Parts: sequence; C-alpha cells; structure tokens
Amino acid sequence: MDSQRKQAETVKNNKGIQKRVSKKWTEVDENLLLDLREQGKTYPEISKIMNRTTSSLKHKYVRLNQSANDDKHHHPKEKTQQVESLLNGDSLKILETNAGKGNLTQVYKRYGSVLAQDISRESVEYLKSLELDNVEIKQVDSFRKIHKYIYEGRKFDVIDLDPYGLPSRYFPHVFDLIDDGILFVTFPKVGIQQINKITVKHYDVFWGINVSEASEQERIIHEKMADYGFRGLKKVELMDVVDLGRVFRFAYKVKRTSALVLCDLKVKGVNC
Ligand SMILES: C[S@@+](CC[C@H](N)C(=O)[O-])C[C@H]1O[C@@H](n2cnc3c(N)ncnc32)[C@H](O)[C@@H]1O
Repeated sequence: MDSQRKQAETVKNNKGIQKRVSKKWTEVDENLLLDLREQGKTYPEISKIMNRTTSSLKHKYVRLNQSANDDKHHHPKEKTQQVESLLNGDSLKILETNAGKGNLTQVYKRYGSVLAQDISRESVEYLKSLELDNVEIKQVDSFRKIHKYIYEGRKFDVIDLDPYGLPSRYFPHVFDLIDDGILFVTFPKVGIQQINKITVKHYDVFWGINVSEASEQERIIHEKMADYGFRGLKKVELMDVVDLGRVFRFAYKVKRTSALVLCDLKVKGVNC
C-alpha cells in the first residue's frame, strides 16, 4: 500500500552532512498533509511542520488527490453506523464542519436539516451536484465561520467535526453552539503518526497529552472535553467511541447546565 511505502528523504545530520533516509508515510501523516494544504499552508511551511522535503510533499499530495475520496481516509461505514446508532427523529438541526464529499451528509439529512460546510471548492461543487434535499452547502473555513455563528447566537442539535488532522482549533468555542445535543469528533491517535516537536507541543497545549503516555490519551481527551464544556457551562459526557485504527471517532452528549451542577454543589446561590 502507498501509505506503507518508504520514501527516500534527504536530511542533514547534526554535522550538517546530507544523507538519504527512508521515511514511512502513515495514514495520519497523509491526513495531516491534506489538512495543512486545505488550510492554505505552502509546501515550505508544511515542510517545516512535517520535517519532509517539499518535493516529497508535492508528490504525495498529487497521489493523495488521485484517491481523495477513498474510504481508507473516511471510514464511511463505521461513521455511519455510529451516527445511526445515536440519532433519532427527523427535525434535528445539524452542522457538519468538514462535510467533504458528503458521505455523512447523506446520512444526516435523514434526521433533519443539514448545514454542510467544507473549505475545498472541489468537494463543495461535488456536494452541490448531489442535489440533496434539506442540505445547505457552504464553502467556508469552518474554524473561522463558527465564530460568526456564535455571535449570531445560533444553536445546533448535532455538530460533526471531521477534519483530517486534529480538531483542536474548534475548541472550546464549538460548545457555545450546542445547548442540548450530540458532538461527533474525529481525533487522530497519539503515537501513530511521525511525531515532531510541533505535534508534541500541540498535543500538550491543547489537550494536556504527554505523547510518551499514549495509553492515557483517551481518558485525558474526555477530561479535557469536559473542561472545555465547562467554559460554556455545558455538561459533556462520552456516549460512544469507535476505534478506526489511526483515529478515534468520539460522540459526546452535550447539555447546558448550571455551574452548581457541574461542580456538584447543591447549595442554592453558591457559585463555584
Ligand atoms: C476527513 S475529510 C471529511 C470527510 C467527510 N466528513 C465524509 O464523511 O466524507 C476532511 C475534510 O475537511 C475539509 N477541511 C479541511 N480544513 C477545513 C476547514 N478549515 N474548514 C472546512 N473544511 C475543512 C477538507 O477539505 C476535507 O474535505
């Protein structure tokens, strides 16, 4: 498989001498590259983040685009089963921040109205060509757009965050958009991808995860979600986990509540 194929990279050792080494591409690396490109990062910028040459990145990006809607990147079957097992009704308001080519949009539309967003023009054009009822499609940067929705006081019953890379930039703000509903989040596993200093720092700063303690990651992520929810006075409880190998797919129940309840205090008028 391409993701397991070794690619030669020219790197400098600590004496400044260039040598050719093999560097495996994992699926998470591939997803990170796709995500960074979608965010508008240049190849030299990505080269610094991923510690790979620009030519290797370009080559990989072209190959990935040739198989952009492959199931191996999207796991549509497992994600669909999870959504179907947790949703009820037909009048839910649903926000998909990373709709891609609509694998999940077509599932969500059975449960209500869907606002399906993606940054990629090609994906959005494809989504529009499906002519789905009850689906509003927008080509936007969802990281930014959610701030507008918060300002407008919009609320959703279901929000789905399904980026290629880490969903960190949606937090804690995304909780302001749900008062009573479900948040689905795709989360790349620690310990699978090539770890560089930036990734290590990222896991630490956003999630409090020490990458050398990968076994603790799930517990830490759920605790951090609860903390992020608390900032918007939301109780956040894990409902379901699907292990997709390279990534987790978490579903959280989110409910607006008081600081008293969140802090387990029963005395009226006391704030924690
Ligand atoms: C894993 S795919 C989504 C798959 C899709 N949910 C599905 O089930 O088929 C990630 C998507 O996030 C999009 N994306 C990346 N950065 C984005 C951003 N800042 N705002 C909106 N979409 C973004 C990419 O274009 C890509 O289509």
